[in-house]
Amino acid sequence: MISKITKVVHMFLDNYISEDTIAIDATVGNGNDTLYLSEKCKFVYGFDVQKLAIENTKEKILKDNIKLVLDGHQNMDKYVSESIDVVVFNLGYLPKGDKNLITKKDTTIIAIEKSMDLLNKGGAIFISAYYGHDGGLEEKNAVEEHISNLDDKKFAVAKYALLNRPNNPPILYIIEKTK
Ligand SMILES: C[S@@+](CC[C@H](N)C(=O)[O-])C[C@H]1O[C@@H](n2cnc3c(N)ncnc32)[C@H](O)[C@@H]1O
Repeated sequence: MISKITKVVHMFLDNYISEDTIAIDATVGNGNDTLYLSEKCKFVYGFDVQKLAIENTKEKILKDNIKLVLDGHQNMDKYVSESIDVVVFNLGYLPKGDKNLITKKDTTIIAIEKSMDLLNKGGAIFISAYYGHDGGLEEKNAVEEHISNLDDKKFAVAKYALLNRPNNPPILYIIEKTK
């Protein structure tokens, strides 16, 4: 249970979501988080730059409480004009997808900043960083440094890491808006 980061994210997420929640899945991929959010929340916006990810996810989700956008999460404010409660990021590449289409530090940080602006007080951003690939470590370090410096009067920032696993196990960061 504690070694499967997707499960850990859902465990934490459950404390932040209800049937009134507006959510963003910032990296739709195979749609696993989108599906989870769509089942439990009022509405979900999903972003991905891969057409395949958007199409596969559309087929997977049977409810009509989602808007899937084929665009980068760094542009989320063009599509989301309401305030939101949770945002989920999975940094890295899509398993079995195009390994060149990885998330990148600059756009990821823009998207995190925009998420923080859209977030309601008491809401949270979940960032799972998979970083074993080229550029992954650089992105993870840039994100960690950036969020470590957020104003502690407005945000609580936490890190969850597996300590005895080889091969760069993913790290989870959580940002909660406290004010
Ligand atoms: C680790 S995968 C996501 C896995 C997904 N959460 C799932 O359940 O399958 C990362 C995804 O981010 C997408 N991506 C890369 N750059 C992006 C960007 N700027 N905006 C949105 N998605 C992006 C990739 O296409 C890939 O599908």
